[in-house]
Amino acid sequence: MKSLRPLVRAAALASVSKHIDHFSRFSPSPLSMKHFLDFGSVKACERTSFKFLRQELPVRLCNIMKEVSLLPDQLLSTPSLQLLQTCYTQSLMEILEFLDKNPEHQEVLESFVEVLENVRNRHNEVVPTMAQGVIEYRQASGRRDPVTDHNLQYFLDRFYTSRISIRMLINQHILVFNGNSNPAHPNTIGCIDFMCNVTEVVQDSMVNYTNTDRFYTTMVRHNQSALDHFLLFLNVSPSLLANNTREPIQIPYVPSHLFYMLFELFKNAMRATIETHEASRLLPPIKVMVVVGEEDLSIKMSDRGGGVPFRKTESLFRYMYSTAPRASMEDQHRTPLAGFGYGLPISRLYARYFQGDLNLYSMEGYGTDAVLRLKTLSTASIERLPVFNQTALRHYKLSLEADDWCVPSKEPLDLAIHRMVK
Ligand SMILES: Nc1ncnc2c1ncn2[C@@H]1O[C@H](COP(=O)(O)OP(=O)(O)OP(=O)(O)O)[C@@H](O)[C@H]1O
Ligand SMILES: [Mg+2]
Repeated sequence: MKSLRPLVRAAALASVSKHIDHFSRFSPSPLSMKHFLDFGSVKACERTSFKFLRQELPVRLCNIMKEVSLLPDQLLSTPSLQLLQTCYTQSLMEILEFLDKNPEHQEVLESFVEVLENVRNRHNEVVPTMAQGVIEYRQASGRRDPVTDHNLQYFLDRFYTSRISIRMLINQHILVFNGNSNPAHPNTIGCIDFMCNVTEVVQDSMVNYTNTDRFYTTMVRHNQSALDHFLLFLNVSPSLLANNTREPIQIPYVPSHLFYMLFELFKNAMRATIETHEASRLLPPIKVMVVVGEEDLSIKMSDRGGGVPFRKTESLFRYMYSTAPRASMEDQHRTPLAGFGYGLPISRLYARYFQGDLNLYSMEGYGTDAVLRLKTLSTASIERLPVFNQTALRHYKLSLEADDWCVPSKEPLDLAIHRMVK
């Protein structure tokens, strides 16, 4: 876009905003896990998928682009947000090129896949770029008020959910119609495993975390002897109690999503355990319990890492809330968003995306239980998607209102009583 002459560029921008207005009037169409599975198996038809995506992807992109445009000007003008907007606009325009193309032509279907791959790659860095934009905005505005914080939290939840959903659609199309089937995973359709072995993913995420550089540097920084004990303890833990049986627990799910959530929960539980028991020779185990019911699959990860005060529980899900040593943006190329306070909020979005949830129950002075709930049935795992409408608009127009509950006075009690008596 940068190379276009001013008049041409203005015309191009006008046409983009016309498209955004048009497609954002449609609501996204949520798909269930069953839809994804059925579609990817017997009924797989690339043309049908192409026809659905060339309409649905612009709808999802434009719904969220409308919300981006409502962000404060100071945030929109940061280099990171400018970059993001260019990236979204370019992807939108590339997909719109296919609106009048004939699905009967094989070369059209092939070039659509190429475009989807480009879009996916272009959007790889969206999460750290948006995070960087928020940091730049906060540094530039120099103040933090509860309304802006609330609006940003609301926006980021929706923005990242939209991104998860767009990637899901793109990945399914690419993998189902152009991916080579993986003999090691005969149960997968695209990125969904219709018999995802939950306990196996729990173990993988734990083993993977203990293999990261970050884990070793954390451990060594804390205490060399703790490292030896910790590795010893990992031989027997985490204790995996799965319905008290050794039967595999399987549900239809996206293993990479489940892995992400568990990896983040392990990271948190391990850091809390190590920091709280720095001085002791033995570290208490992190226990994981997996239970499957008719509706819910629940995973509880319990640590004895000292917990957090109840007052702070809701803040733990705020973007950028972190008590970890601050990581630099360069670190993001090695590990996905470490030390940015993104672990819990993004994990909760993944859980909610298919109608699950993530809650933390903490007992200060003892430890924390993180409880992840997912849907057992593929018909109940339905995409939870943001839609741009009047209700969403109202959220961005929220202003600071007086609290309708008394705010405790900060002045000493005897002074307050003295005033009342007077
Ligand atoms: N199991 C836990 N025990 C004690 N505190 C926890 C636990 N899980 C999370 N927290 C607290 O919540 C904060 C936010 O967690 P979150 O995972 O979102 O970010 P982070 O771990 O600080 O950074 P990141 O996950 O991005 O690497 C942590 O910094 C920590 O203070
Ligand atoms: Mg974390």
